[in-house]
Amino acid sequence: MKINFNNVLINNDEINKYEDMVKDIHNKLHDNCNSQDNFMGWLDLPINYDKEELEQIKICAEKVKNNSKYLLVIGIGGSYLGARAVIEALTSTFYNLRENSPIILYVGNNLSTSYINDIIKIIGNDDFSINVISKSGTTTEPAIAFRIFKKILENKYGNNASERIFVTTDEEKGALHTIAKENNYQTFKIPNNIGGRYSVLTAVGLFPIAVANINVDKLLNGAIKAYNKYNNSNLNENDCYKYAVIRNLLYHKDKNIEIFASYEPRLHYFIEWLKQLFGESEGKNGKGIFPVGVEFTTDLHSLGQYIQDGRRNIFETVLNIENTNESITMTKEENNLDNLNYLEGLTLDYINHKAMEGTIDAHVSNDVPNILINVDKLDEETIGELIYFFELACAMSGFILNVNPFNQPGVEKYKQNMFKLLNKPGYW
Ligand code: PA5
Repeated sequence: MKINFNNVLINNDEINKYEDMVKDIHNKLHDNCNSQDNFMGWLDLPINYDKEELEQIKICAEKVKNNSKYLLVIGIGGSYLGARAVIEALTSTFYNLRENSPIILYVGNNLSTSYINDIIKIIGNDDFSINVISKSGTTTEPAIAFRIFKKILENKYGNNASERIFVTTDEEKGALHTIAKENNYQTFKIPNNIGGRYSVLTAVGLFPIAVANINVDKLLNGAIKAYNKYNNSNLNENDCYKYAVIRNLLYHKDKNIEIFASYEPRLHYFIEWLKQLFGESEGKNGKGIFPVGVEFTTDLHSLGQYIQDGRRNIFETVLNIENTNESITMTKEENNLDNLNYLEGLTLDYINHKAMEGTIDAHVSNDVPNILINVDKLDEETIGELIYFFELACAMSGFILNVNPFNQPGVEKYKQNMFKLLNKPGYW
């Protein structure tokens, strides 16, 4: 993974002014990552995870692979986006081409009747299992979905239903923890000191990822690689911290929207995960860069006009996959009615990259600073590396902005209103 900062439209002197601040924040993160009282446990997670639990995760994943056509992942926000980001990035875009493993379906991430009914229809009479994920154990959307699908599972399998329910939640407390204990469900833990959006490399992500037949050891190896690479307080030697600093400098130059872009549709949910990671971590106290996502070249035909010509308050972070395992080569047609013969012999990948280069030039030339993150190929290791890179960059970035990147007080407001409107005891 290599980052190209050539088009950020910022000079090195501006960046270097952050050297001392970055060192202090780096030390604060590393001094606190073993404490239970904050949410910094993700920092050394790649080298400090529960190895026994990982083995149990693999055993249970095999069980689901053998007895289920579908795994329902019930969770919202940080309790599902990480798993979905990894699974969508590393498997076919099209569900019916995923032949070697159960199909993962995501529920409990909205309150839509038609969505839930559609899932019920998809499952039909086929075998399925459930992985319900909630750190608090009380979040309304997944709790409702769990109630609905637990009933369906119990109607179908009777007393054996409990063998198909896997609960990922707090080790000691919460409604879900109590339900799991009462019913003897298999549980996986979300460590105390790791918050939802930083939890993809815990059981929250690893269990569904393992069920999807993705090698979780390789994923963790990628994260370890990033841990070793970016465990360096020297800003000039650390591209992760440089990215965080550049974001902050751009923000102070009124570039307060960051567009995460990729030219690979498989990264759609990775970008969704990034939006949540940065949005929920930084958007507080009236501050923060607003993260948005685009999928190119698709969105060049929708949002492209705005990015090129609209208000100049945006910058772009592009995820570029340098090599794909597959290739399609353009061939010649005798009559050339579509005028495409000039592409003869070129691969689609090459053409896609030329679209990217042309777009970056066009945007940079009209005052859209660009950060280009180059990844050799899309596999478990590179995704693991990217995950850790962005988690660390986000924490550094939040502290530079002087907000707490690990809480999300603003999320409570809609819940209070909704509970009041629903006459939840204690809310009127
Ligand atoms: O990042 C976060 O902390 C949030 O997005 C949570 O993951 C999300 O709100 C779900 O919470 P819980 O896991 O408690 O159900």
